[in-house]
Amino acid sequence: MTPEHASQLAAKVCALAPVIPVLVVEDANSAGDLARALVAGGLPALEVTLRTPAALEAIAAMAEVEGGVVGAGTLLTPRDVEAAKKAGATFGVSPGATKLLMEACEANDLPLLAGAATPSEAMALLERGYSVQKFFPAESNGGAPALKSFASPLPQIKFCPTGGVTLANAPAYLALPNTLCVGGSWVAPAAMVKAADWAGITRLAAEAAALRK
Ligand code: 3PG
Repeated sequence: MTPEHASQLAAKVCALAPVIPVLVVEDANSAGDLARALVAGGLPALEVTLRTPAALEAIAAMAEVEGGVVGAGTLLTPRDVEAAKKAGATFGVSPGATKLLMEACEANDLPLLAGAATPSEAMALLERGYSVQKFFPAESNGGAPALKSFASPLPQIKFCPTGGVTLANAPAYLALPNTLCVGGSWVAPAAMVKAADWAGITRLAAEAAALRK
């Protein structure tokens, strides 16, 4: 898959809802319920971070959930890409981008939302063909004002800011011309997942889904 095609597909994922939940799944047994709760609230695109032993099994379980579009986050190595693809991930997210990682995603036909934090990083990704990127870490990197500053010199690059994004600050990002959606973990707090408070998570998802791009 070319980076250009990957970017088209990533843009489609970003258009599904204003927020992509960033999920750190500890127990794969609850993954299906978690995905159903988020999809029911109006957030179909889900990012499962490869940060726990349960992550790949969680991706496989979530891939079965009707209406869900499941991706793998925290992709760092070609091995991660192959495992994510095998588990059923239909897109990938990375905090940054390395040559090896991009080559692996392209070879494995996994659309990549690669991370950039500076104009030079964003330009390097664009040079390769990635026009849809993750702005990470968004809040600690200057937040919406910083991302707004990217829009004028780099109008052809669209972003999904992630890292420190909340219900309160998401609207400032979503109002920007270069933001397609935001990513955030606030819609699936660990305590609510542990308590199997699926109705509560659906409420948080609905609140997030009501944010307007
Ligand atoms: C992450 O890497 O965990 C994501 O960027 C989500 O960050 P958040 O927990 O600040 O939403």
